[in-house]
Amino acid sequence: MTTNVMTEKENEKCKLKDQVAIITGSGRGIGRSIAEALLRAGAKVVISDINEETCNKTAQELKEHGGETLGLVCDVTKSASVEALVEQVVKEWGRIDILVNNAGITRDNLMMRMSEDEWQAVIDTNLTSAFKVSKPILKVMSKQRSGRIINIASTTGVHGNFGQVNYAAAKAGLIGFTKTIAIEYASRNITCNAIAPGFIDTDMTRKLSEEIIKGILDKVPLKRMGTPDDIANAVLFFAGPAAYVTGQVLEVNGGLYT
Ligand SMILES: NC(=O)c1ccc[n+]([C@@H]2O[C@H](COP(=O)([O-])OP(=O)(O)OC[C@H]3O[C@@H](n4cnc5c(N)ncnc54)[C@H](O)[C@@H]3O)[C@@H](O)[C@H]2O)c1
Repeated sequence: MTTNVMTEKENEKCKLKDQVAIITGSGRGIGRSIAEALLRAGAKVVISDINEETCNKTAQELKEHGGETLGLVCDVTKSASVEALVEQVVKEWGRIDILVNNAGITRDNLMMRMSEDEWQAVIDTNLTSAFKVSKPILKVMSKQRSGRIINIASTTGVHGNFGQVNYAAAKAGLIGFTKTIAIEYASRNITCNAIAPGFIDTDMTRKLSEEIIKGILDKVPLKRMGTPDDIANAVLFFAGPAAYVTGQVLEVNGGLYT
């Protein structure tokens, strides 16, 4: 007797089969883990990053594990660069189903010492970028009458954080952006949600001193830093089964602030 029950591996592969996903800033860190997870779930994945070396290396390495990847260099602060990215993806793969706005930077300083350049660089890369990247992709998704946008915000955008007034403002703005896109595009069957990571072990947080990291870990109930895979698992939820979830912010932070 034959059975229709798929193996766990087959089931995993079929979830996002043939869906096209773009992840900004996916040359390393959280973005790279998200790309890997989406690829494992069967999606075709666009690795895009401002850093040409990590962008191409990651696209190549992930391709070697199986599945389809495209490495496209893109600076999310430059409209022309973003338009070229979207055009290239539509030319190659004809559709865009999932967008993860992940590219981000920090320029930490106390408010009293923060320069206008430090303020503006973070607003441009972490907030205005989401507007620039989402706008042309929402046009493609609207025509398809389907799409998932997932914005990588931060617990700092929800709760604030010492020395991060620029980053907190940008990530809080990204949350407002998420909720409004969710309302405006629901009629086109496009969902938009945000993930607010806590302290995740990547190059971004490896810049922090041991003392700061210890101070943070003392406040995390789960007593460890998060991993990029912890964030990728939340992305899989929003990209896959969460069809009736939109305009939400999921904190993935080991219980910090609870
Ligand atoms: N690591 C954490 O603890 C943490 C916590 C909360 C939120 N986040 C957010 O998660 C996202 C990923 O962070 P990460 O920890 O992996 O950082 P990371 O520094 O390891 O990776 C960020 C990636 O973004 C790319 N990038 C930077 N500017 C870009 C631009 N203008 N255009 C395109 N790509 C650009 C970088 O080249 C890099 O590959 C960011 O939005 C960050 O704010 C991280």
